[in-house]
Order: sequence, then C-alpha cells, then structure tokens
Amino acid sequence: AFDNRIKLVEVGPRDGLQNEKTSIPMETKIELINRLAQTGLRTIEAGAFVSPKWVPQACMDKSSDILQHLLINPPSSPKPLTFSFLVPNQKGLDNAFSILAKNPSAFATSPDDATASKPAVELAVFAAATESFSRKNLNCSIAESLATFRQVIQAAKESNPHGLSLRVRAYISVVLGCPFEGHDVDPHRVAQIATELLEMGADEIALGDTTGMGTAPRTKDLLVCLRAAGVRNEDIAFHFHDTYGQALVNIAVALEHGIRTFDCSVGGLGGCPYSPGATGNVATEDVVYFMETLGMDTGVDLDKVADIGEWITKEIGREHASSVGKAVLGA
Ligand code: HMG
Ligand code: MG
Repeated sequence: AFDNRIKLVEVGPRDGLQNEKTSIPMETKIELINRLAQTGLRTIEAGAFVSPKWVPQACMDKSSDILQHLLINPPSSPKPLTFSFLVPNQKGLDNAFSILAKNPSAFATSPDDATASKPAVELAVFAAATESFSRKNLNCSIAESLATFRQVIQAAKESNPHGLSLRVRAYISVVLGCPFEGHDVDPHRVAQIATELLEMGADEIALGDTTGMGTAPRTKDLLVCLRAAGVRNEDIAFHFHDTYGQALVNIAVALEHGIRTFDCSVGGLGGCPYSPGATGNVATEDVVYFMETLGMDTGVDLDKVADIGEWITKEIGREHASSVGKAVLGA
C-alpha cells in the first residue's frame, strides 16, 4: 500500500544556528526547541558535541547545557520527542554520555520507548563523500573518520548509561556536490560509505546535499546507485540545502523513489561553516506545505511552524528564507 506518512527531522536548532557569527543566547535556543516541540515535529536536532575551536556556535559546553536542560525540563509536546546531537568522535560521545549519566532515568534510548515526559536521545556521526570535505570538516581522511565512527557507534550501542542501545544517525555530506571538488561526486563512493556505516550499526543514513548543488537527475542517479548497492529506502533520509533553490524538486524525486524521511530547518536557517557560500536547509514551512499539496502526512502544523520561522529569523536578525512561511503570514 502507498505510504503517505512523512518523517521530518527539524535541524534548525543545530544546522540552522551553527553558522551564525554572533553568539545566540541559550534562552533563545531553548525557546526555539520548546516552540518547535509544540508543532507536531517529533525529531529535533538540538546541538553538536564538537570542538568549540572548530564551530564556536555549536560549542560543546552549550550543547551540554541544552541536553541537560531538555532532560530535566522536557518540552510539553503533543507527541513523544527525539532529540538528536552530533558527535564526531569519542570525546564528543564522552561529553554526551556524561550528561546522560547524570540523568539516566530522564531519557528513553529509542523513539519507541519515548513518552511525552521522557524524550529519546539520538546521536549522529558525520562522514563526507569527498576527501577534501572530510579533511576540512573533520581534519581527517574518509577512512580515518569511518574507523572513528565504528568505535563511536559501537560505544553508543553498548556502553551508554542505561546499558541500552542508542539510536545512531550517520550523515554523509557533499553527496551531490562538494565546495572543493565540484559536481562530480561519485555516487558509487556514497553507496559504499553508506553500506559501511550501516554495517557498523548506524540506524539511518542522512544524505547531505551540503552545497545545494544537487539536481533532479543526479538525485535520481544517486538513489538508483544506492538501491543497486542494497541500501533500503527505509534506511535513508535526505538532507537538502536550498542554495540553488532545487531542494523541493530533489525531494519530489526522492519521494517518488520511496524515501519518506527528510531534514528541514524552520525559516530556512542554516549553512555549513566548512562549505563556503552554502545557505540554509530547505525550510520546514516549504516542506510541510509541499507535502500537504501532495496529500502526504507530516503531522506538522504549518501555521505554528510559520510563526516560529518569523520569530526566530527576527530574533537573530536573519533574512526569512521560506517562501511558504512568508505567504502564510501574509508578509
Ligand atoms: P582535531 O583538531 O583534529 O581534534 O579536530 P583533536 O582530536 O586533535 O583535538 C584537538 C582539540 O580539540 C583537543 O583540545 C581536544 O580535546 C578537542 P586541546 O587539548 O587542544 O585543548 N576536541 C574536542 N572538544 C570538544 N568536543 C569534541 C572534541 N574533539 C576534540 N568532540 C574534530 C577534529 C572532529 C574535533 C573537529 O574537526 C570538529 O569538531 N569538527 C566538527 C566540524 C563541525 O561541527 N561541522 C559542522 C557540522 S557537520 C554539517 O554541518 C553537515 C551536516 O549538516 C550535513 C550536511 O549538510 O551535509 C551534518
Ligand atoms: Mg547541513
């Protein structure tokens, strides 16, 4: 039967804010997460346990505070929530675990066990499809990063403070274009990395079009290649940036192919500090509206998300990048 249920992963609080030049107050980040939790969105990427020298906004002590806060004061939400945090290495995992260990009964280790008052926590590792991007973003080769992720995934599965298995998402960046190597990213290489990450125990592969250089035909080629390599649709999420305005077109291609999980960012916030010129993620408002026009079910309240997009872009002094958001608000 045709499955019309869509899972949206809201990455605004992490990807959306990590590129801002000025420091964003903790209260604003928490308010953003709390407000997003009221909209029907169920998975929210809330921070990154990365080196503060590399990405000051996402600075790990702030992410520790955010995680701690969310466990002690889970947002009131109509549905159980999952909060996701990036971890690039063992140090990031240790930092995340140290918060989880302080509050072992406050979190559920899988979305299935989450309740309204007990959110699930998910961790995300992030590889790249090109050597240049891997080097810039992680300061190591693809092979070195995969060796690190093997250990991180294993540790996340085996030695978290509950002794249970945390869900792990694995990103692959620059799958449809690299700021340093151009358009011709090899889809076979992407499929190979995805297969390796799944074999390590990753629960989901998030394919990042970091630069927004992806086009409809190349999105299709990549999906065909992944299918030929045996990667299942249910293991794939797409993470489109909208730099060239192609995100919805690419999402349509992925939808037709059977993909049902998409990342988005309220107000179209975002960018990547190691992808010069790349702008925001596809806006949550745009994706929710697009899905509604197709009869797909996101479970997300468009008006509420539009209000948040308007508020957060004003709050941090960014241009409001969602066409749908602006239209809905009559601006
Ligand atoms: P490195 O410099 O090679 O790390 O960076 P190192 O192991 O040599 O350590 C150097 C220092 O960093 C040490 O401190 C470590 O303790 C510290 P010192 O002894 O000098 O005082 N350190 C850490 N501190 C906090 N948390 C940690 C951590 N690890 C080491 N986890 C490293 C390697 C991976 C740490 C660095 O390159 C890094 O943090 N990279 C992350 C970059 C990043 O966050 N990029 C943005 C997110 S990815 C993205 O946006 C793409 C995505 O949206 C998908 C898409 O669009 O494609 C996900
Ligand atoms: Mg991104």
